[in-house]
Amino acid sequence: MCGIVGYTGALEAAPILLDGLKKLEYRGYDSAGIAVLGKDGIEVSKVSGRIENLVEKTEGGRLLPGNAGIGHTRWATHGAPTDVNAHPHVSNDGRFAVVHNGIIENYIDLRDELIKNGYASISETDTEVIVHLIEMYYAGDIKRAVIKASSRLSGSYALGVVCTDAPHSVFVARERSPLILGVGLGENYFASDVTALVSHTRNAIYLDDDEFAELTPDSITVFNCAGQPVEKSVSRIAWDIQAAEKGGYEHFMLKEIVEQPRAVKAAIAPRIKDGEVVLEGAEMSKEYLSGISKIVITACGSAYYAGCAGRFAIEKLCRVPVKTDLASELRYDDPLIDEKTLLIVLSQSGETADTIAALREGQKRGAKTLAIVNVVGSTIAKAADYTLYTYAGPEIAVATTKGYTTQLAVLYLFALYAAKKMGRIDKERYDSLLSSLQAMPRRIQEAVDMNPNIPALAKKYHKSRSVFFMGRNTDYSVALEGALKMKEISYLHAEAYAAGELKHGTIALIEDKQPVVALCCNDRITEKTMSNIVEVKARGAEVLALTYRENKKMVALADDTMFIPLVETLLSAIVEIVPLQLLAYYVAKENGCDIDKPKNLAKSVTVE
Ligand code: G6P
Repeated sequence: MCGIVGYTGALEAAPILLDGLKKLEYRGYDSAGIAVLGKDGIEVSKVSGRIENLVEKTEGGRLLPGNAGIGHTRWATHGAPTDVNAHPHVSNDGRFAVVHNGIIENYIDLRDELIKNGYASISETDTEVIVHLIEMYYAGDIKRAVIKASSRLSGSYALGVVCTDAPHSVFVARERSPLILGVGLGENYFASDVTALVSHTRNAIYLDDDEFAELTPDSITVFNCAGQPVEKSVSRIAWDIQAAEKGGYEHFMLKEIVEQPRAVKAAIAPRIKDGEVVLEGAEMSKEYLSGISKIVITACGSAYYAGCAGRFAIEKLCRVPVKTDLASELRYDDPLIDEKTLLIVLSQSGETADTIAALREGQKRGAKTLAIVNVVGSTIAKAADYTLYTYAGPEIAVATTKGYTTQLAVLYLFALYAAKKMGRIDKERYDSLLSSLQAMPRRIQEAVDMNPNIPALAKKYHKSRSVFFMGRNTDYSVALEGALKMKEISYLHAEAYAAGELKHGTIALIEDKQPVVALCCNDRITEKTMSNIVEVKARGAEVLALTYRENKKMVALADDTMFIPLVETLLSAIVEIVPLQLLAYYVAKENGCDIDKPKNLAKSVTVE
C-alpha cells in the first residue's frame, strides 16, 4: 500500500521522483504527489488519480526545480483519494514535508493533542500528524525531531522527510514498512522497493525497523533511535532493469504470464544438484522433520491459494497433516501451533501485514517458520527461521501470476526434500516426481502454446455477469485461484466450488447460458466431476472445460475446452492455472479493464 521515493543529488529531482513513482504505481494508484526543495522553500504538487496526472500537472517535473525531494503514490486508507489527502503533507510553518507508507494507529489521539497545541490539520489522513509532530519537536536538529516524532507513533511507517533548513538532505525512518536506500555516485535515493532504484543504481542498503537515515548527495548516515550511527552493509540488487519494463507487451500481466517457464525454472533449477533437492537457506535435519506433528501453511490472496494447491504434495509425500490457514484469520483463532509445528509462510512481496503478523504469532507459539518469498531482504524473508526465495524477478501487475507458480514450485521442492529426509518416499517415486518437476517449465510453455483459442473464448464469455469455477481435490484448489484472477482483473463475479458442493446450493443459480469453468485434470476423479458437469448442463450451463486433450469424453461433453499437457496429477496445479490466467486476462481485455492496476486493489497489502 502506497509507494514512496526520494532523491538528492546534482540532477533535477522532480523528473526522477516521477519516474520512481511510475515504477511504484502498482503499490497504490489513487493519488500522487511530490515535494521538492526549491530556491524559495518546499514546492509541492499533488493530484488525485494516476501518476500521469501528476506528470501533466508538473509538466514532467519542470515546474518544480530543485535537486532534492520526496514523492508518494497512494492507496487510500484514511480519507478519500483527494488532492488534499494526497501526500506529501506539509507542516504549518512550511518548513517540513513528509511522505508516508503505512498506518498510524494512534493518529486520532495525536491529532487532538496537536490541535490543542495550536497545529491545524487540513487533511483526513493519519499521516498528517507526523509532519506536525516533527515541527513541534524541532529545535534546530532535524534528526532529533524525526526520532522524537517517530517515537510517538504506533503502527507502521516508512517515512521520507525534507526540511528547508537542510536543502540538500532527505531523511527517512522505518518501522514495519519497507524502505531501501539506493547508493549512487554524488547522488542517493530511497524507495519502497528496488524496482524504483534499479535504473539508477544496483547498490542498496536495506533499512531495518527502528532505523533512520540522512541522505545527502555524498553521504548516507544510518542511525538508531538514540541518534547513534549504525553500520550497514551495501547489497547488490540482482534484478535487471528490463525485468521491471513491459518489454513490448501490452500489459505487465501478459508479460508475466508468458515469463512463467523462465521464472519457474529459476526457482527449481539451482535447487536440484546430482538428482537431489538441495534447499540452501532451509536445510532441516531428519530429526527435526521427523519430530514435526503438523505443518501449517499461511498466506493471503493468491499466495494462500498456492498454499492450498501445494498442500496436497506435502501431505501426500511426507505423510504429515498439513493445514492451510488464512493469515488474516490465523492469529484470531487461538491456533493449535506449537514447537512441533512447522509454519510455512508464503508471500510474493514479503511485506503483507497479515502474513507478517501470522509469522510472528507462529514464532510466539514456538513453531519454526519457513518463508517462501520473492522480494529479497523483505520483512518476512528476514524474520523467518528459514527462507527460500522464489526468484521470480519483479512482478509488477497487481494480479499475481508468476508469483503464484513460483511459490508452488518451491512448495513442491520442499515436499520432495522433506519426504526424502523423513524417509517417506521411495527412490523410484522420488526420481520420477523430480523429473516431472524439472519438466514443468516446458509443460507451462506448452500450456501457453496449446490454447490459441482463449482470446476467442474471452469474446464469447466476457459479457456474462458471473462465472462459476468447479473442480475436485487439486482441481478445486486451482479453481479458487482461477476465480480470483477472473474477479480481480475483469470485475466479473466469479466463484469457485468444490464440484460436489454445487448441488448444495449454488446449482440454484445455474440458468441458461451460465458459464461454468470445469477443471478436470485429476484422473482419479474425472468421472465424478463429469457427473457434476452433466448436472449443470442439464440446467442450461455452458461448460468451458480445462482438461487434457487425451480426455476425449470430457472434450465431447464440454461446450468449449482449454488444454494442458499430460502432467503428474500431484504437481499439476502449476500448469493448470496458466490457461485460467490467460482466460482472465483476455476477458478483462475484452471488457476494457485496467488490467495491471485493477480498481481498489494494491499489490502489496501492508495494512491489516
Ligand atoms: C494482494 C495481491 C495478490 C497477492 C496478495 C498477497 O492481494 O494483489 O496478488 O496474492 O496480496 O500478497 P503477497 O505479497 O503476500 O504474496
